[in-house]
Amino acid sequence: MRTLASVSLLALAVTALATGAGNAASSGTPAFVTAQRLADAGKEPGNWMTHGGTYAEQRYADLEQVTSANVGKLGLAWSYDLDTARGQEATPLVIDGVMYTTTAWSKVVALDAATGKPKWTFDPEVDKARGHSACCDVVNRGVAAWNGLLFVGALDGRLIALDAATGKVKWSVQTFDASKPYTITGAPRVVKGKVIIGNGGAELGVRGYVTAYDAMTGQKAWRFYTVPGDPAKGPDGEASDDVLKAKAGDSWFGDFWKAGGGGTVWDAIVYDQELDQLYIGVGNGSPWNRQIRSEDKGDNLFLSSVVALNPNTGKYIWHYQGTPGESWDFTQTQPIVQATLTIDGKPRKVLMQAPKNGFFYVIDRETGKLISAKNFVPQTWATGVDMATGRPIEVPGARYEKAAATVMPSALGAHNWHPMSFSPKTGLVYLPAQEIPMGYETDKSYTYKPGAWNIGISALPLAPPNDRAVTKAIRAMLKGQLVAWDPVKQKEVWRVQYDGPWNGGTLATAGNLVFQGNAKGQFQAFDASTGKTLWGFDAQTGVVAGPVSYRIGTTQYVAVMAGYGGAYPLSIGFPDKVDHMAPNGRVLVFKLGGTAKLPKVDMAPLAPPNPPKDAFTAQQIADGGAIYEGNCGVCHGGGARSSGVLPDLRRSGALTDKDQWQAIVHDGLLKENGMVAFSSWFNKDQIEAVRAYVGVQAKYLASESAPGGK
Ligand code: HEC
Repeated sequence: MRTLASVSLLALAVTALATGAGNAASSGTPAFVTAQRLADAGKEPGNWMTHGGTYAEQRYADLEQVTSANVGKLGLAWSYDLDTARGQEATPLVIDGVMYTTTAWSKVVALDAATGKPKWTFDPEVDKARGHSACCDVVNRGVAAWNGLLFVGALDGRLIALDAATGKVKWSVQTFDASKPYTITGAPRVVKGKVIIGNGGAELGVRGYVTAYDAMTGQKAWRFYTVPGDPAKGPDGEASDDVLKAKAGDSWFGDFWKAGGGGTVWDAIVYDQELDQLYIGVGNGSPWNRQIRSEDKGDNLFLSSVVALNPNTGKYIWHYQGTPGESWDFTQTQPIVQATLTIDGKPRKVLMQAPKNGFFYVIDRETGKLISAKNFVPQTWATGVDMATGRPIEVPGARYEKAAATVMPSALGAHNWHPMSFSPKTGLVYLPAQEIPMGYETDKSYTYKPGAWNIGISALPLAPPNDRAVTKAIRAMLKGQLVAWDPVKQKEVWRVQYDGPWNGGTLATAGNLVFQGNAKGQFQAFDASTGKTLWGFDAQTGVVAGPVSYRIGTTQYVAVMAGYGGAYPLSIGFPDKVDHMAPNGRVLVFKLGGTAKLPKVDMAPLAPPNPPKDAFTAQQIADGGAIYEGNCGVCHGGGARSSGVLPDLRRSGALTDKDQWQAIVHDGLLKENGMVAFSSWFNKDQIEAVRAYVGVQAKYLASESAPGGK
């Protein structure tokens, strides 16, 4: 049964009264966000109170001091240096003049939003070994605010409530079994006095779920598992029990539960205040390869789906699965944007999502029925969606059952977590899209290794070959775009081409502007109607996060977290040439007439290639290659080509020092810095074999960098 909109609005009003929303402004408590204020967030465009701006998560700033006519005068108001060169993915909140944002390793900082002066910082002191469980960098996408408290999900699984005035811990709960390779990188959301948080880890082997906690006490309210557990253990005693039994159970086969099954909810968790429903975006299978995960059979519900839940109880309402039986790491966790669109002359309450699989979906929020779906980049795995069933029309062979297949889009997604925005003024969605094909081949020697990467596909073929012309050709295939998409017509209106993928999230404003940073370090403003580039700023480092806008007094500000990192740069984002290690990240804030200058960036120089002189066997090099590409390349770069975020092992002093290499890789000498010991998965001979493989890569780098080298 569905709650009527009018009833849920009444319920909201009652909750608001109960929490004293009426005197929000006079309370004087920092970040005093109430149910009423959140419900009316659209009426406070000067603040950015929740992850996507308002509950609808349109990332639209209804501010028009900065416009397409005057954006040329936008200048830096202030910047704030961060203490890390790891990725910056957070969306800052700005509430009553204070900015609250997060950085790598789940640290939180509160800044005066007009001046950048720090008020406090909070370091949850995450055990750096947890960095190994993070598939895609030790990032954090932001905080949630409620009633004078701020909530951050720490990488190690703690959900921590901070006093917004001081940054002191009010309560903290452990949200997952820390013996398993879970992480939290996503931003919590607060809905009617409950904080809701998910987790990640489906590359390594976990079972996904979301949990709601009482915002004031941290007491657990409900939990929803997205996939069934070990049948031998029986029901979980959680909100998901009934629906997993009724709908999901029959869609799984074999020992699917062994590696957890996956289905982590690591990004989109979105509240529908009109229908009193919660939408969660569910991730990929664990392992990715359905042949290994589920005997190559079944839809594997609720992998790669949007699931609507009752926010009060956590009970299932409806779902839409974009990729049944997913086998490519096609998460459907990507940002969800709500709007009312006029479709065939009728107003429809819809949600819009552009997940990794390359389809732009418009879904009816009341029924969960698919209204339309269209690809926004070229796809090779499907030719479209059958509107009678809502299922993709798959291309035979794309599941790589019999032979390896090159598939687009792929694991890094046609669109990843980078936020998209929607302007009610233009009616367009502004989407950071990308074209990244990938080869999929079943890992014939797959065995489940608890805590390690368990994806079930061979990683070695993913390494860029040691041939300049070929890597150049591969790089030319990798594309990134800013796409303006008409969701009613399911049609592109304009498209900006970038030099490569992994560009920033977007912000739309009432000044007819779209803001977006890019991988090459330009933070830009575009005309929202035409896509014309109107303004740019050299951020000195890649920008991947989503910008926000806010107002203090009469001044409109635009802010973004600058700092390159995340899955693509760490794994296969090797640029043509890396001159220096990535600099530390920064918070950048702009206003009209701003005259601040960025401090000189601290570029750590690179050591020369350091190939070892040892004679390794061909077998060592081959074995080492398989281990490296399956276990090290995700952080140090495929083919040992780092893009400058983490050390380039071809230049490491340890490469020519066998004992030092063992001390670091086998024993964990650098574990305090996020480089774990690999002794639980590999013996010393295997780790020496990795040195052999990286040695070959170093030799190639040396020859390539030599005068006349190729
Ligand atoms: C989860 C990410 C991650 C993975 C996976 C990973 N590393 Fe690391 N590694 C790091 C980080 C972070 C550092 C930097 C530590 C520091 O700053 O001291 C590092 C540093 C190193 C260093 C020292 C480099 C130097 O000269 O400073 C070596 C050698 C190394 N890693 C080898 C490996 C090998 C071999 C593998 C695979 C078996 C591997 N790493 C897998 C994150 C990772």
